[in-house]
Amino acid sequence: MTTYITTPIYYVNAQPHLGHAYTTIVADTYNRFRRLTGDTVRFQTGTDEHGDKIAEAAEKEGCSPKEYVDRISAMFRSTWPLLDVEPDNFIRTTDKDHVATVQAILQQVYDKGDIYFDKYTGLYCTGCERFLTEKELEDGKCPDHQTVPDEITEENYFFRMSCYQQDLIDHINANPDFITPERYKNEVLSFLSEPLEDLCISRPTSRLTWGIPLPFDENFVTYVWFDALINYLTGAGYPDGKEFDDYWSAAEHVIAKDILKPHAIYWPTMILSMGLPLYKKLHVHGYWNVDETKMSKSIGNVIRPAELIEEYGVDSIRYFCLREMSFGLDASFSSDAIVSRKNSDLANDLGNLYSRTTAMLVKYTDGVVPALVGAGDDTVLSDLAGTVIEKYRKNMSVFQFHRALQAVWELIGQANKYIVTNEPWALVKEPARVARLHTVLYNLTETLRLLTLLLQPIMPGTCRKMAEGLGLAQDSPLVTDLSGNGAWGMLEAGTRLQKIDALFPRVDTKKKKKSVKQESKKKKKEKSCKNKQLSGNVEGVISFDQFQKVELRVAEIVTAEPVKKSDRLLKLTVRAPEERVIVAGIAEYYSPEDLLGMLVLIVANLQPVKLMGIESQGMVLAAKVEEDGKSRLVLSTVSASVPPGARVA
Ligand code: MSP
Repeated sequence: MTTYITTPIYYVNAQPHLGHAYTTIVADTYNRFRRLTGDTVRFQTGTDEHGDKIAEAAEKEGCSPKEYVDRISAMFRSTWPLLDVEPDNFIRTTDKDHVATVQAILQQVYDKGDIYFDKYTGLYCTGCERFLTEKELEDGKCPDHQTVPDEITEENYFFRMSCYQQDLIDHINANPDFITPERYKNEVLSFLSEPLEDLCISRPTSRLTWGIPLPFDENFVTYVWFDALINYLTGAGYPDGKEFDDYWSAAEHVIAKDILKPHAIYWPTMILSMGLPLYKKLHVHGYWNVDETKMSKSIGNVIRPAELIEEYGVDSIRYFCLREMSFGLDASFSSDAIVSRKNSDLANDLGNLYSRTTAMLVKYTDGVVPALVGAGDDTVLSDLAGTVIEKYRKNMSVFQFHRALQAVWELIGQANKYIVTNEPWALVKEPARVARLHTVLYNLTETLRLLTLLLQPIMPGTCRKMAEGLGLAQDSPLVTDLSGNGAWGMLEAGTRLQKIDALFPRVDTKKKKKSVKQESKKKKKEKSCKNKQLSGNVEGVISFDQFQKVELRVAEIVTAEPVKKSDRLLKLTVRAPEERVIVAGIAEYYSPEDLLGMLVLIVANLQPVKLMGIESQGMVLAAKVEEDGKSRLVLSTVSASVPPGARVA
């Protein structure tokens, strides 16, 4: 199979922001996913460099349009590697071959009789670079740019778009996946239920010179959309590139809803006029909003990808974009949302699973993947992996990235529970159960291998690191080829793990949440003052009311580390559901990696105390077990199906 995936080519009147980055990450992810499944792929992005907007922006900056477009186009080009986005082709509409292709197509359509000269009066929006119909306006303004369009009367060339209206309707009806999600297909069909006007495809040079000259009239340049849409053909090698037919028949465009009409109406009618087959699919997503308003340069609320990468790391941004937005709907951007995804999904769930598993292998099997011995009946993880891979494939294929990721996180969640349930740290103490220990460790490591494979398109950098840590080459088919290696049990026993740094350092929310914390500290203090009144109990008996005041909660241990200069203490960060630090005297009985992911019981409303200079905000409950004259502590744990924070009544 072949895949040819494209993003819109971005206007160079503004620098790249998160909106552009999102579409481009989506296309890159899909491209990588297709490559993972064995497709021959081509991924194209680029810049749209002609037209009024660009001419105006260059004039404002006091430079020639060419100098201006070279500078901004280079900014787009250099942003993509920062996001680990790897296009096969970066097209510019000022490229010579593109200019030649546009002129050849104009001539062909003109010769066919589908372009004519006429006088036209219409409402022109410079932001959209197109005439708007009365129906499209809201309160007399362009809904996207909130500006009143100019009424313009001009003699121009027109493309007979209306001739292809019925063919387009028929094609959409016969190919339900041509435009997805469905809401956008319906929007287009509704628009097509009214007669289409022909499309003005020229601008007189008296008004605009920054464009591709019409081959049949030097007094006009080409309308920027007619020029821009053709980039998708130029990039596939039209007309006589060797691989053109293969790529074109596989063409899938990704856009946001702002440019639905040019892509779902202008473009297919142009292609029909050229006598070419229509592109395969149009994938339409919603907007990234900031405080309910579309992120855009004109509104001035843009977020720069480079700043986000600097603060959170590239893969956290890629993951956040794909997990947070349901493709097709709008999503809200906020740094709190990124921090929460990073700390919870990436650092706690995925990062801890990786570090606990690899740490246990280092400790229990000298860092070597053990062999499976008689594992026939332990299929919890292998069964789930099969279902997850199926859901992942299905959803990735239809751009439902958030669903694909939810499925992958089911596997991560289950693997974390598997550690808690199987307690490898207990198995290792029983020589007779070494085969069981090896089975558990193998299953966990094989899960990590499959996660590395599945997350490759979403977080390529992290997966390179994960592969390295698993002792596999970054390009090993075991982590880069879903067609043959999605099956369970491909990781070979004997593979030696390598040491790597933590996958996702946690974001320190302390500073950001200082004021919130101070407030909750005050409350805790008030509570604990009240609790002091509890101490007046008689002969160890407390009333039910008094017991009710002890706040017992289920907490998930998300980090654990030794406390310096103490053999007894461990510093734990727990989620209950808010995060807090608890210093616990359990270092003699548990090593930090044994604890990660454990669900324990805590006393949540104890007055904070300082232990070895660390403020402990609560207490972990443990049973004191007396054996052979010695006592040890065993943490009271809870079944993995209880959410952290649940109150123990
Ligand atoms: N040059 C045209 C496209 C021509 S394609 C033949 C254009 N350029 S643009 O710079 O305005 O880019 C619009 C695209 O950028 C959107 O369709 C979307 O892909 C992306 N986004 C810009 N702002 C966005 C959001 N706030 N949210 C999501 N995507 C956004 O239109």
